[in-house]
This record gives sequence, structure tokens and C-alpha cells, in this order.
Amino acid sequence: MLQLSSQLKARLSIPLKIGNLEVNSRVLQSPLSGVTDLVFRRLVRRYAPDSMLYTEMVHASQLQHVKKLPKMMEVDPNESPISIQLFDCRSQFLAEAAKRAVAEGADTVDINMGCPVNKITRKGGGSSLLRQPELAEEIVREVVKAVDVPISVKTRIGWDDDEITILDFAKRMQDAGAKMITVHGRTRAQGYTGNARWEWIGKVKEALEIPVIGNGDIFSVESAVRCLEVTGADGVMCSRGTLGYPFLVGEVDYFLKTGELLAPATPIERLESAKEHLQGLAEYKGQRGIYQARKHMAWYAKGFVGASELRGELNLVTTAQQGVDLLDNAIAQLTKGYEEIEEGQVAIAQ
Ligand SMILES: Cc1cc2nc3c(=O)[nH]c(=O)nc-3n(C[C@H](O)[C@H](O)[C@H](O)COP(=O)(O)O)c2cc1C
Repeated sequence: MLQLSSQLKARLSIPLKIGNLEVNSRVLQSPLSGVTDLVFRRLVRRYAPDSMLYTEMVHASQLQHVKKLPKMMEVDPNESPISIQLFDCRSQFLAEAAKRAVAEGADTVDINMGCPVNKITRKGGGSSLLRQPELAEEIVREVVKAVDVPISVKTRIGWDDDEITILDFAKRMQDAGAKMITVHGRTRAQGYTGNARWEWIGKVKEALEIPVIGNGDIFSVESAVRCLEVTGADGVMCSRGTLGYPFLVGEVDYFLKTGELLAPATPIERLESAKEHLQGLAEYKGQRGIYQARKHMAWYAKGFVGASELRGELNLVTTAQQGVDLLDNAIAQLTKGYEEIEEGQVAIAQ
């Protein structure tokens, strides 16, 4: 049975201090492109009222000629604590975009220096900044000057195994004025494969004064606790573990605050969440939202008899009502199955 050691509890019981901002949770919901829009974040927030949430990454220079903010940058009026994540390699565009992020309500602005996707790195953004540390420093300095909310950086441990540069890089970010750094324990070359090397997160934590957040392979309360123990990090950020499971950040947060494990969400609860997610996306984004919802539905529909057929059917929906009907039907089947099991158990007991 998972135990919260008194040492860990004491270490994490005080608020996370990001510059002058205090956050009452040591678990963060990562930025996920195509996922962490306002609709998804509302679900996460329900279970994790205190955690820092992140928008999807937004291309700073693309804001230059648009008056209206893209949906990706929209935040709810009471969403705090919320960070808007930006990417680019041009400090002046990042500084301008940061001002707009703050006007929209961002409590912090995060700069993406970890994205491994070619489309982004070819333009000098994301993880390619790991190879241009002076430019990365200039970016942080300029954005810090432009706004009065704390600036944070999210990055990886290095470009590849021959260039694990995170220790020098993280110190540079701190010196340039970053108030927190999140380290995904993989190199750019690893993409999302292999294991996250948490030992590097521990080394960064030892070397820095600003908060260090551990990221990579946190799929459960157990792995979150292990990462915090192994690295000594100030917090953990959940990412792929939240796909189709917006309960994870809340579950980890609850355990760190109380030492008690919440029961994991049941298949029925997950499908109820899928329904709300689908309806929310349809309302917020129209037809585009319904197409986007298909991948979410596939992530939710896992781990029960009939899940694979359901995923196939959900992948074809073109209206929210079709999806809702399929999900309602699956929920009814699961409920019936559980009732039959319960009746069987009562009969045996009698
Ligand atoms: C679909 C997807 C989208 C992502 N989008 C972003 C993003 O917009 N910004 C960012 O900093 N990282 C992004 N990431 C990286 C994650 O935030 C995280 O660093 C990574 O998945 C490692 O954590 P994990 O092993 O727990 O998934 C993305 C990852 C995935 C799988």
C-alpha cells in the first residue's frame, strides 16, 4: 500500500512559490497541443481545484497580425492558476505575445523549449533552443522585462545522448530571470520513447534555487510519488497520463495533501466524462470540436469489455448526438453488467 512519507509530506505541504505567485498544489497539468483547451481544462479543474493548468502552446509570431486571440489562448475568467504557453525563437514576438497572454488572464507565461516536432524545431523554436542557449537566455530576459507575471520554461534534458546540456541550460534560464523550470526527462532525440531519465531532474534540482518540476512518465499516483522521492523536485507535471483521464492531477494532488488514495475513476465515470467532453467541444468549437473529440473518445473508451468496438464506432461520429447515444448505450450496458454481478454475489451469499 502506497504511503506518503512524513518527509515528503512536510516538504510539499507549503505552497509552490513561482516568483511572487503561490500555488497550493505540487501537481501540474502539462500543456498538450490539441488537448488542453478550455473544455479539457474545465474537467481537470473540477478534480484539481488548486493546480496550475497550462494552455496548448501558441505560436507567438502568429499573433502579430491577429486582433482576436486564438481559441487556444482563451482562458476562463476564474481559471486561476493558469499559465499560457508560447513558443517561438524571436524574443520581440514572444514579449508582445506575453503581454497579450497576461491581458487574457495568465498568472504565468511559460516558454516552450522542449517540443521535439520538426515543424517547430526547424523554425528555431521548441527544443532547438537547447542548442542555442544564448538565444534562449535573451528570450527569457526580454519576456521577463515585458510583463510582471512570473516567466517559466519547459524543456528537455538535451538534444540527444551526446548533448545532455540541461544543467548548464537550466542555470542559464534561472540567471536570465525564469522563476520555475519544468524538465521533461527525455532528450529531443528520444521524442516520447524510452524512459524519462528522472536522475537528470534530480541533478537540476540540486543545482538550482528556483522551483524544478519533474515531468515524464507520470501515469499514476505511485509514479508521481516515486518521481518526487527520486528527484527531490518541487512538483510533478502529468501529461499523457491525463489523456482520457482528466482525474489524474486531482488524484495525485489529493494523495499528496491527505496521504489517502482516491478510488480510480470507474469505466462508467470515464464514459460520463467523455460525454461531457464531447458536448463541451461541440459547443465550444462546433463541427471541428466533434472531429477533435474523436481522439478523446478513443482515449476514454478503454479497459472494459466492448471498449474496442465502441472506439471504432465513436471514431465515425459526425454529430454530438451520435456520440452521446453511443456513450449512453455503453454506460447502460456496463451498469447492467455490474448489477448482474452484484445480484449473482447476493445469490451466492444467500
Ligand atoms: C499530444 C501531445 C501534445 C503535447 N503538446 C505539448 C505542448 O503544447 N507544449 C509542451 O510543452 N509540451 C507538449 N507535450 C509534451 C508533454 O507536455 C510532456 O512533456 C511529455 O508528454 C512527457 O510527459 P509524459 O511522459 O508524462 O507524457 C505534448 C505531448 C503530447 C503527447
